[in-house]
Amino acid sequence: MGEVDPAFIQAVEHRPKLAIIEAEGIPLIDLSVLSSHESSYPSSTEPLVAEIGEACKNWGFFQVINHGVPLEKREKLELASREFFAQSTEEKSKVKRDEVNVQGYYDTERTKNVRDWKEVFDLTVKDPTVIPASHEPDDKELRKLVNRWPEYPSELREAFEEYAKAMEKLSYKLLELISLSLGLPEDRLGGFFDDHTSFIRLNHYPPCPIPHLALGVGRHKDGGALTILAQDDVGGLEVKRKIDREWIHVKPTPNAYIINVGDIIQVWSNERYESVEHRVMVNSTKERFSMPFFFNPDHNVMVEPLKELTTAQNPAKYKAYNWGKFMANRKRSNFKKLDVENIQIYHFRIKLDESS
Ligand code: OGA
Ligand code: NI
Repeated sequence: MGEVDPAFIQAVEHRPKLAIIEAEGIPLIDLSVLSSHESSYPSSTEPLVAEIGEACKNWGFFQVINHGVPLEKREKLELASREFFAQSTEEKSKVKRDEVNVQGYYDTERTKNVRDWKEVFDLTVKDPTVIPASHEPDDKELRKLVNRWPEYPSELREAFEEYAKAMEKLSYKLLELISLSLGLPEDRLGGFFDDHTSFIRLNHYPPCPIPHLALGVGRHKDGGALTILAQDDVGGLEVKRKIDREWIHVKPTPNAYIINVGDIIQVWSNERYESVEHRVMVNSTKERFSMPFFFNPDHNVMVEPLKELTTAQNPAKYKAYNWGKFMANRKRSNFKKLDVENIQIYHFRIKLDESS
């Protein structure tokens, strides 16, 4: 690559520091108690629930080990992903997304209007997945998103379907633990996910000649409920630490998953838990692969602070919004470069000072 497209260049204040500072990292949480048969559920999970609550409150991020997801399932999909991205652009473009069906391959994503140094392949967990046809509030038409399966590698489909099932299972477990940590019944949130709109993104970050000027993914928060990320051993994910707003490197831990709370949990919990900014650094020599699973509710769900978590002293900080319309809005702006800012949850924030 000769000249680099200026669309990739980050503003000075958002450029990464290439020297990694070793600092206290995100919490590492052992989930083995969930799969141990001797333990007396639920009292044996109390310390775990407390740990998860602290991690969600203080970091919005944590890693899990002994999570019960078989390593072979992850490795199978990681291999298929490598094989898929190793093909020519022409081959990959056969499963390119378009404006109507936004699932598929693309290499043109922007985060806050700066291009990301990556290529991605998006696949929904439920195939088809139903979402609103447009972001227009009064348009009731629905649309089915269907997955585009590449010809090569032929194992990708099966590898994806097996891995997606394992991710679903883990995400329901985590959702129960998070509910308990908020003082709610463990099944309080599960009902929002009956026809969930979750998807998995296969990410490929090629080596980059200007790692000090560009990012693999610019700073952002995840818009859904929960994210379960598998990153390889290269490293590059950075999380904004809440206590001092420093960017903290997330050191790869073999066979661990990185979990983060998305915007929806921020709203449900009325900001007891916050969705935290993160970004991805690239490097000049190594390519990097990652696979986030975005756990998202049914498109019909109206997202608002849970009644049990609001009081007269702590009134709801958000107006209700429809998840499907929110998502349709995001997908649209991801496809086209729009002049307006991406939709954000703060657009639904209630200005409490004025209303009291
Ligand atoms: C994302 C994301 C992190 C990574 O795709 O939303 O934050 O390590 N990815 O790829
Ligand atoms: Ni993210």
